[in-house]
Amino acid sequence: MRTLPLPTGGEMPVLGLGTWRMGEDAKRRADEVKAVREAIALGYRLIDTAEMYGEGGAETVLGQAIGEALRANDVRREELFIVSKVYPHNASRRGTRDACERSLKRLGLDAIDLYLLHWRGSHPLRETVAAMHSLVADGRIAHWGVSNFDTDDMEELVEATGDGPGCAANQVYLSLGERGPEFSLLPWQRERGMPLMAYSPIDQGALAEDDGLAELAARLGVTAAQLALAAVIARPGVVVIPKAVRSAHLKENLAAADLRLDAATLAELDRLHPPPRRKTPLAMI
Ligand SMILES: NC(=O)c1ccc[n+]([C@@H]2O[C@H](COP(=O)([O-])OP(=O)(O)OC[C@H]3O[C@@H](n4cnc5c(N)ncnc54)[C@H](OP(=O)(O)O)[C@@H]3O)[C@@H](O)[C@H]2O)c1
Repeated sequence: MRTLPLPTGGEMPVLGLGTWRMGEDAKRRADEVKAVREAIALGYRLIDTAEMYGEGGAETVLGQAIGEALRANDVRREELFIVSKVYPHNASRRGTRDACERSLKRLGLDAIDLYLLHWRGSHPLRETVAAMHSLVADGRIAHWGVSNFDTDDMEELVEATGDGPGCAANQVYLSLGERGPEFSLLPWQRERGMPLMAYSPIDQGALAEDDGLAELAARLGVTAAQLALAAVIARPGVVVIPKAVRSAHLKENLAAADLRLDAATLAELDRLHPPPRRKTPLAMI
């Protein structure tokens, strides 16, 4: 799969697996562990989670699946790129470190590959960033970044942390249905070689039911969800992390990483879902 270089070294695949809504219900746990294991067996290497998802439940599901996959030799640890996030209310200097240790324990890992501040809260950015730097220095995380930061938040982050803040990525809501970040945030990140991780890229399943998209997709011999994903990663500097539990969805979404859209298709997509003409506030789910 195509990868994007990180400004802090290393790289990230352009498509990964989301895990929101996993780990919320014990009755669904076996199916969720099975889905993550299947995803790894199929070739997913980037997996996104957060301490918020199921209040640690999603990390526990992921930890079990990764443990099983490693023991079965389905994958080697260094091939995986695991992303988790700290709650804003935990993001003090001390709290960030403690939250990271709890996440590592649930994930059964020695280190998280990318650790994000989930959204802006009341703790000063420089405190959170100081904690992130200390976690990198201790080898508990490989890279750090942010989520739900708009262009002005990114500017503030740079200001609060001085030159070369070392932020590796920003994860925001970007899909064909929500193209706002394409106006100024994506260009800002591109200039700095900082990948934008697009969450809810299928609009939580809604784009799979979009009639206009379905019609265009049918002409191309793909599904609407695949077209929605391929359209987002056709933008340079963007990674998508669709969540799926159903096997058919996992396979469909992974295959979307290899779709190349021609100029006529991209123009048709712009007609169906126009790009932003002005700056709008960052949308959040
Ligand atoms: N940083 C943040 O604040 C933030 C916010 C939201 C999300 N996220 C991350 O981004 C990930 C993705 O976003 P999301 O979960 O909100 O929404 P999403 O990935 O856009 O959509 C997930 C939903 O779409 C369904 N689906 C998946 N593939 C499909 C396909 N090929 N055809 C039809 N339906 C399909 C899934 O069903 P099944 O599960 O039944 O297969 C699920 O109901 C999250 O899981 C999370 O990791 C981050």
